Amino acid sequence: MIETTLDIQAIRKDFPILQREVNGQPLVYLDNAATSQTPQQVIDTIVDYYQGYNANIHRGVHTLSQEATDAYEVARQKIQKHFNIVHSHEVIFTSGTTQSINLVATGFTSFLKEGDEILVSAMEHHSNIVPWQMLCERTGAVLKVIPMNLEGELVMEEYQSLLSERTKLVFCNHVSNALGTINPIEEIIEAAHKVGAAVLIDGAQAAAHIKADLQALDVDFYTVSAHKVCGPTGVGMLYGKEEWLKKLPPYQGGGEMIAEVTFEKTTYADLPHKFEAGTPNICGGIAFGAALDYMNSIGFDAIAQYEDELMQYATEQLLAIDGLKIYGTAAHKTSVISFNIEGVHPYDIGTIVDKLGIAVRTGHHCAQPIMDFYQIPGTVRASFSFYNTKEEVDKLVEGVVRARNMLL
Ligand code: ALA
Repeated sequence: MIETTLDIQAIRKDFPILQREVNGQPLVYLDNAATSQTPQQVIDTIVDYYQGYNANIHRGVHTLSQEATDAYEVARQKIQKHFNIVHSHEVIFTSGTTQSINLVATGFTSFLKEGDEILVSAMEHHSNIVPWQMLCERTGAVLKVIPMNLEGELVMEEYQSLLSERTKLVFCNHVSNALGTINPIEEIIEAAHKVGAAVLIDGAQAAAHIKADLQALDVDFYTVSAHKVCGPTGVGMLYGKEEWLKKLPPYQGGGEMIAEVTFEKTTYADLPHKFEAGTPNICGGIAFGAALDYMNSIGFDAIAQYEDELMQYATEQLLAIDGLKIYGTAAHKTSVISFNIEGVHPYDIGTIVDKLGIAVRTGHHCAQPIMDFYQIPGTVRASFSFYNTKEEVDKLVEGVVRARNMLL
């Protein structure tokens, strides 16, 4: 019995996709860390936009343009409120976390010099490694890695000893996509600030489980993708402290981000428009706001409590399978379970359980250094959301047992 105040069956009715079958079996969707599913309320927002007020924003005096502009700016304010951000102009709409990180990494090019140091955690997604390597190539700065232990937790003593007056930037995910570890970002931010380094926290995996208070965290940059929080793909946000966003140069040039253009000289628009060149994903931004409304209507405390119970139950059931090993056993985790069965390739398990209608992710999860650390090619990853059930966990366990028996 899993205790919860949530009416999971009622919640499931909000998600049309959960009613479908895959390979003749009811869909069991356990790939929520890759992307969450979309409730009818968000789908309706998207349909209403295209049926009712599709227009370009900030550009027209006509009614449709004003309606679209208002809805887009209201969505920005919803994001501001959700993450307890001081100013709505500190919320920059992007195409997602990857673009948010690249915007900051590109912007820092002229702020770094040879010998400066950038710290990145050992459990980052490639999107929080490669842009910093590219920044190091451009500037001569050096990338250093905060190590992790076998449980999948950062070694904080090592982090403290890596920090020095040479450290200019620190990057870490709030939650690891491959292991589910919740990192001690409060401690990471505070220690980095003591040596004068700026901190970017990748919130892509945390946002579906934890409502981060960005003022309390005092973080310099925080990134989120809407599709991880029941919103659409192709839209996300970069939060940046006003002082940083004022200092950083624009990421892309084009319409919308300018104040005045002549062939001799261009001046840039104020925040947030300075970073929003071109026609943005207007509908996506509005739907991002609707997705946060939806998740807040369910409540993040109840979501976290229920998902934790699901994960504990799934962990116990999976560990009872002969030869099964879980990677990522941190004391503080979100509802991600990465595992392998000795002698079996993760891809084969994923393929067999898909035949049973069960969606999990297999492979390196865009985090190859973690797989290298454990000396494995990849894992099977089951990631749970508040719309999953105990019965679905049971189906996963049955499916994995079946796969094991077929493959060994
Ligand atoms: N970053 C996404 C994942 O972890 C795609 O699956």
